[in-house]
Parts: sequence; structure tokens; C-alpha cells
Amino acid sequence: MKKKKKLYEGKAKILYETDVANVMIQEFKDDATAFNGKKTGRIKNKGYVNNQVSAHLFRFLSGYYIDTHFIDVLSENTMAVKRLDMIPVEVVVRNVAAGSLLKRSDYKEGEELKVPLVEYFLKDDAKGDPMLTPEEIIEQSLCTEKDLRMMKNLAIKINAVLKLFFSRRNIKLVDFKLEFGWDEEGKIVLGDEISPDTCRFWEEGSGEKLDKDRFRFDLGDVEKAYEEIRRRVFLEETAEA
Ligand code: TMP
Repeated sequence: MKKKKKLYEGKAKILYETDVANVMIQEFKDDATAFNGKKTGRIKNKGYVNNQVSAHLFRFLSGYYIDTHFIDVLSENTMAVKRLDMIPVEVVVRNVAAGSLLKRSDYKEGEELKVPLVEYFLKDDAKGDPMLTPEEIIEQSLCTEKDLRMMKNLAIKINAVLKLFFSRRNIKLVDFKLEFGWDEEGKIVLGDEISPDTCRFWEEGSGEKLDKDRFRFDLGDVEKAYEEIRRRVFLEETAEA
């Protein structure tokens, strides 16, 4: 497969067209941004970690009949993915209170939520990714009611699968963000990435943060945390047979 022209460059990834119809190359960068691009930097080996971790998690999810855009790993920091028409909504699932939820509630950081919360944000940097209600998503024709129901059900299922996956590796899945798109048949498919950039991971017990919050809040040992997540994700799955 040949890499062709650049289709899109975001803050952490680049998408390239290929000579194969409906197949793209997703390249993960070491560049890091936070707070809507206000903080910028680089995390050594982040592209490698996020590519490998995303690939493994996408493969794992497909074992649970969850459709993802992942096709194959091509190199340390690239993967072949299915071309999707992306829905400009970030779907966030939370198990534990952290991050922006703390600003909108009286929860204390680390409080377990009674049920997973699903939230929606408009993917629009210029507008600062504002929160959206389900009604606003439909009203703005970002997707249909049926698509939204599908995304919510998938997000809840993905949460259940990943929560167990990480708890077996002594990691608490605090919250994470997903992005979906339509494939060429109009089916809703999970796209983007699942990595320490897009999830909050806390070590069980110590509560140590092993994700992008280390970069956001200058907690130090950022590369070490990303590498630790990669190592845990690839631990043998003895209990999962
Ligand atoms: P939040 O608490 O800042 O709303 O973030 C919730 C989750 O979503 C957290 O795991 C980080 C992830 N996230 C992204 O992947 N991209 C973003 O732009 C933001 C704001 C959060």
C-alpha cells in the first residue's frame, strides 16, 4: 500500500490517503497539546505508544463485535484505517469524577459515579469544544437520533469491555473520549484513537496518574507513564480466556 497525499493534520495525528480505496494511513505524532491548544509540547515516543496501544485496544474491542476503523499496524507510529465520514461529536464516558466534570458539579476528584456518565462535546477548536445536549446534536443535524442512540450504546459497551481489561492490569479507567464516523455503507464505526491522550488511567491503589494529565498539569515523568500504559496493555491476558 502506498502513502499518498495528506488529507488532514490534527494536533496529535496525520491522516494520509493511500492507493487503496477507502483505506487511509493514520500517523501518530509525538506533539502534544492541552487546554484547546493553549499548551503545547512534545512527549518522546508518544506516537509509538499511542499507535501500539490504540491498535491493541481496537483489536480487543473487535473481539467483542465492536466495529472499529483499525485495519493493521504498518510501522511504529502508523496504522492502516478504514476511511470514515466523521461525526463532529466527542463522546466522553466517565466512571470516576475527574477533569471538567469537577467544574460542573460538587463531586470531589476520585469519587466513583453510581453509573457511567455519557457526555457529548462539539468537536470544534474555535468554539472551545462546548458541551452538547442530545437534543442539540439532533437539532444541529450532526447525526440522526438513531446514530446517537447507537453511539451511546457503543460507548457504554466499550466502557464495560475496557474497564475490565484495565482492571485486570491494575489500572482504573477513570474516563475517556471516543469519536465515531460512518463507513461507506453508512454503518457507525469507532474511529480516532484510544490512548493515554484520550483516557484517564489511574494506578489502582496508589491513584498515580498514568495519562496526559501528567503533561497537562506538569506532573513530571510523562514518557514513563505512557510507556507504563503500553507495557500493561501488552501484558499476557491469562485471565481473559
Ligand atoms: P475532560 O474531563 O477534560 O472533559 O475530559 C474527559 C476525557 O476526555 C479525558 O479522558 C480526556 C479526554 N479528552 C480528549 O481526549 N480530548 C479532549 O479534547 C478533551 C477535552 C478531553
